[in-house]
Amino acid sequence: MRSPDQNPSSSFMAVLGILVGVAVAQVALAAAEAPLTQTAPVAGTAAVAAPLSGQQVYRTVCIACHAPPGVGGAPALGNADAWAPRIAQGMDTLAAHALNGFTGKTGVMPKKGERIDLSDEEIIGAVEYMVGQVAR
Ligand code: HEC
Repeated sequence: MRSPDQNPSSSFMAVLGILVGVAVAQVALAAAEAPLTQTAPVAGTAAVAAPLSGQQVYRTVCIACHAPPGVGGAPALGNADAWAPRIAQGMDTLAAHALNGFTGKTGVMPKKGERIDLSDEEIIGAVEYMVGQVAR
């Protein structure tokens, strides 16, 4: 039996409240993700598509092997012990190894992380991003 003072529209209001809550959460999520999808400023005139930032290249390509703890002997992002002797070789060597591929003591670094469609600048940006995660 229904109590006489129950408001018949209260369950409708509850459903409406949930819907509004979900919509607000989605807007908040979209806003939180926006900075990640921002494109880096275009350098030079030859680029057709806006170049990816170093962080974007890491997150879409290099992460496959360089995510901690490191796959197939790859030095993991943020692992200072793994990166220190590599950084000591100098940025030019690191960049060359990333661009041209490199077989070292721990494994095989494929040319451009197997993304030969990416520009040299994008790959070097990713090297700088990874180095930046341990050089403090
Ligand atoms: C398929 C796995 C794989 C992917 C993808 C990958 N790497 Fe590597 N990378 C390796 C491995 C393994 C090594 C370690 C090689 C060694 O020293 O024996 C390495 C080493 C490196 C080094 C250090 C080179 C040196 O001289 O010590 C750099 C810099 C590097 N990778 C950059 C990148 C960048 C930038 C990307 C993304 C564009 C990337 N890697 C994607 C596997 C990968």
